[in-house]
Amino acid sequence: MRVLVVGGGGREHALAWKIAKSPLVKKVYCAPGNAGTASVAENIEIPADNVNALLQFATVTGIGLTVVGPEQPLVKGIVDSFEESGLRVFGPSQRAAEIEGSKVFCKDLMKKYGIPTARYESFDSLDQVKLFTKEDEPVVVKASGLAAGKGVILCSNGEEARSAVQSIMQEKAFGNAGNQVVIEEFLTGQEVSLLAFTDGKTVLPLDSAQDHKAAFDGDKGPNTGGMGAYSPAPVFTDELKQQVIDEIMIPTVRAMAKESRFYRGILYAGLMLTESGPKVLEFNARFGDPETQPIMMRIKNDIVPIFEACIDGILSTQTLQWKQEPTVCVVMAAKGYPDSYDKGKEITGLNLGENQQAVVFHAGTKLENGKVLTDGGRVLGVTAIGSDINQAIKNAYSAVDKIKWDGIHYRKDIGNKAK
Ligand code: AMP
Ligand code: GLY
Repeated sequence: MRVLVVGGGGREHALAWKIAKSPLVKKVYCAPGNAGTASVAENIEIPADNVNALLQFATVTGIGLTVVGPEQPLVKGIVDSFEESGLRVFGPSQRAAEIEGSKVFCKDLMKKYGIPTARYESFDSLDQVKLFTKEDEPVVVKASGLAAGKGVILCSNGEEARSAVQSIMQEKAFGNAGNQVVIEEFLTGQEVSLLAFTDGKTVLPLDSAQDHKAAFDGDKGPNTGGMGAYSPAPVFTDELKQQVIDEIMIPTVRAMAKESRFYRGILYAGLMLTESGPKVLEFNARFGDPETQPIMMRIKNDIVPIFEACIDGILSTQTLQWKQEPTVCVVMAAKGYPDSYDKGKEITGLNLGENQQAVVFHAGTKLENGKVLTDGGRVLGVTAIGSDINQAIKNAYSAVDKIKWDGIHYRKDIGNKAK
């Protein structure tokens, strides 16, 4: 079978790497891919959100399975377009992907079906906000639409909240994503994610993974797309996982079906473990980046039959097997990320030699005249396995230490919370 992976980040390199190991797969294509996916797949120069060009490529090439990485093509309806043309594609439909594409839709769904989440109000004008925000109350202001993980502003009081809403609604800090805004209760606790495969009926959870969203050590600095991750997350006990499946994942999949938004693909719940139990911060309609990198390294199964079972509605026939050893992914970013940063710097030290425990998943990289150059904010996700968490951390950082370019930034404390 020929498989197309849509996207060009670290998540897509990890997916292509895992898919390429399947005996069912003859060839993997990645659109647009990066310098790393080129070693396991053929890169196709089509942007991930150009649905028409991807559809034409998949039809002409006889692609037997398409796996969609990022949210933009899902929200644009890539799954609907491919299915209408008789192609097999893994991911939710446009209407189902709205669970990520519209925070207002997502919050209203959770309220309607009693799925635990922060109290909230949604707004489409600044005037209404003045009545809602109280001077001494911390709140979280969120642009409703897609904002590349940046549309969330934590505010310690009413004044900050109003200025956050102003920057989102009037100054259009996140473009049209801010036409509607959600203001919600500030929750405290440990943050974890649970990702699950679903065919719209069965929910098959992945092992836990913990992201590190803040730019700097000790969870300081601005939020990013994710500076590293480890799997499993010890804070996420089996008991807690079952609670999240029973109270959040299954009710959400059922709610989506009731709303005629049948959900198939990966359902990613970002959760806060509050004193009154786990609450949903957000849902994503896709695999996490960088969570996918340590997760793919721990899955023992051939991943392709799992994708196929989701598409065919027979996920209940599948189970997942996991390596017991933990994995750690350290994201190496361009200095300045998540704000402005340089591109086009040559990367050296990518050949890990003896270090069999680590894989360098590429994100923002490109090949030019035989050289690997930086081409994005998050550049690499160095991912390693070890007999225990300390060893996995050591293996990851010993690979990180060998990799150089002009203007590297990475966190030195990835995985420490799992010790
Ligand atoms: P989201 O994209 O909605 O997951 O928000 C991004 C980040 O903002 C989360 O990972 C949390 O760290 C933080 N966050 C979001 N919602 C809340 C909330 N209600 N209370 C506290 N922190 C939040
Ligand atoms: N790592 C967070 C995300 O993929 O949304």
